[in-house]
Amino acid sequence: MWRMADFELTRRPRRLRQNPALRTLTAETRLHPADFILPLFIADGLDAPREITSMPGVYQHTEDSLKTICHEALDAGVKAIDLFGVPLEEDKDATGSVAWAEDGILNRGIAALRDEFGDDLVIIADTCLDEFTDHGHCGVIRTDSRGNEYVDNDETIKLYCDMAVSQARAGAHMVSPSGMMDGQIGQIRKALDNEGFDDVVIMAYSAKYASKFFGPFRDAVGSSLKGDRRTYQQDPANVRESLLETELDIAEGADIVMVKPALPYLDVLAKVAETSPVPVAAYQVSGEYAMMKAAGANGWIDFEETMMESLVSIKRAGADQILTYYAIEAAKQLNG
Ligand code: PBG
Repeated sequence: MWRMADFELTRRPRRLRQNPALRTLTAETRLHPADFILPLFIADGLDAPREITSMPGVYQHTEDSLKTICHEALDAGVKAIDLFGVPLEEDKDATGSVAWAEDGILNRGIAALRDEFGDDLVIIADTCLDEFTDHGHCGVIRTDSRGNEYVDNDETIKLYCDMAVSQARAGAHMVSPSGMMDGQIGQIRKALDNEGFDDVVIMAYSAKYASKFFGPFRDAVGSSLKGDRRTYQQDPANVRESLLETELDIAEGADIVMVKPALPYLDVLAKVAETSPVPVAAYQVSGEYAMMKAAGANGWIDFEETMMESLVSIKRAGADQILTYYAIEAAKQLNG
């Protein structure tokens, strides 16, 4: 048995840090462009792409600019995108019905991408109602006997099922339920299978927290939400329920599970990754992007280097896939 004292003069960890080649050789974690999933927004009624104020460099897209950025992603080696739809204000209603309309903005975007890219690009659809409801909640609102409003779990899931099937029909390779209703994965799996879409993958937002880091995203999709999502998204104080949520989702048929946000929840990610028998994705959310962007713009941090550091940290913590608004730029940096 050796003792630390025997080695204290010869054991020099800095030896492996001498130059870039040695550091690269001994790096435990390597990012690759194919690790990334690029979240994208398509908006109805736009003539030209519109930059999102709180997310500089991120745009609401037209169908044309959406195709262009997907080509750019593929050229950089990014093989998957996650599409969100931004409907016209006047198309929003209490149930978010334009979400599953064949000619709704999200399904039009999915169909256009599947036409353009076939199976070369993994097309992931966000399966949630909050962009489409006039109240901004992720589900249907009911009033209980005491007159209090609540988001009805099972009624909401029925709509998620319609939405997922419509997305599969439009050409999505993958649906990603992000509404945190209990039992949503099992019901969506059943609905997809019943319609013959047993090959459509489900990426479950399993451990999704009621996070203020989503702030800029609400800008990005023109959310109508007043209030918060604390009755369905998880409490930031908790980690055990993330293990329960992911276990349930896997039991219900999730092909990929996700932890979200990423950087403030690396402990959750590490715990989930330790035991998950399916791939684990992490979502570096809008607020994470916006904070680093803002600090970079002020010259307070080096935006690019900080972004890469955050991405390698997310992978080191256990993410197999990383959803990041920085996907194309990061891939380009990796490609040299
Ligand atoms: C809900 C949804 C949200 C995000 C992705 N899907 C917002 C929310 O739950 O309030 C946030 C993504 C981000 O902040 O980048 N459909």
